[in-house]
Amino acid sequence: MEPIIKIEGLNKQFSSSKGLFSRKKTYVNAVQDFSLDIYEGEILGLIGESGSGKTTLARVLLGLTRSTGGSLKIGGAQMVGAGKAEIKKARENFAVVFQDPASNLNPRQTVESSIIRPLIIRGMSKEKAREKAKQALSSVQLDESYLESYPHQLSGGQQQRIAIARALVMEPKVMILDEPTSALDISVQAQILNLLLKLQKEYNLTYVIITHDLNVIRYVSDRIAVMYMGRLVEYGTIDDVLEHPLHPYTDILIHSVPVSDPDNRGGEKRKFPGEPGDVPEDPAACRLAKRCPHVTERCLKETPPLKEVTPGHFAECFLV
Ligand SMILES: Nc1ncnc2c1ncn2[C@@H]1O[C@H](COP(=O)(O)OP(=O)(O)OP(=O)(O)O)[C@@H](O)[C@H]1O
Ligand SMILES: [Mg+2]
Repeated sequence: MEPIIKIEGLNKQFSSSKGLFSRKKTYVNAVQDFSLDIYEGEILGLIGESGSGKTTLARVLLGLTRSTGGSLKIGGAQMVGAGKAEIKKARENFAVVFQDPASNLNPRQTVESSIIRPLIIRGMSKEKAREKAKQALSSVQLDESYLESYPHQLSGGQQQRIAIARALVMEPKVMILDEPTSALDISVQAQILNLLLKLQKEYNLTYVIITHDLNVIRYVSDRIAVMYMGRLVEYGTIDDVLEHPLHPYTDILIHSVPVSDPDNRGGEKRKFPGEPGDVPEDPAACRLAKRCPHVTERCLKETPPLKEVTPGHFAECFLV
């Protein structure tokens, strides 16, 4: 099967000058040598601690920021170096829902204008767009009376439903969900996740869902990709990665966060060693070397390439 998104050796580097008068530039490799195929109709969970590059990767996928190298194919079309029209066409297949419900919606627009504006921009008549907005509201289980509301009159959960409705009317193939439930109460989180699962099935959507929360990933995803300091360090099916982690980082991640696991399969929780920014100076060294309980001499000199350890289960390192 051809992947809907094919990412190969993708890089995104940010540069900034240290001080006003300094010529010295510092670089952040927010996404580094990232390769992954994403298939139509799958739910891919992307996890990693704060600053690991998850949102940057999402922004590159959405065309909100340009990569600084590598290859990104969407539906077979190369995006890196492509012209504006070609990129715009490929991106029509994408929709996004961000973490903060308020940032998904314009506070000065009614729900109806928020939903129908992008449709009218695409050339749809106002009547048709209104009809679509009503349908979208019903598919996110909201009454059509909410069309007249402004975002501040809605709860966080309702705002997130509207954001999902707004994404849906564009009839996307791929939805990028960046922490879509982390600003919500636990009970509301479950409702939104169930809604997302229902819609995914109904429309055969492809989801890339970014979250810090392993429970969310476990609940919704088919596969999981683990990022550390811009690199994809491990990926595979949920069961493979969460039950048989290979990379020391995945192992630490799973065993150092509170997981509400009824069988307590996680066992004792450990404290995550070191600080996120604690990386070796040598750019060739493994990014985790200074924090890793399994570190060897070799880790300070090189980062091994991703290897398929068991069918479909890839890791850069398998010291666990
Ligand atoms: N516009 C920017 N300019 C400079 N550096 C940036 C920019 N955007 C992100 N970065 C840096 O890139 C790295 C990755 O950031 P990113 O926001 O992608 O992480 P994240 O995994 O989404 O984190 P979080 O879980 O906190 O949302 C960080 O070191 C961040 O400081
Ligand atoms: Mg982020």
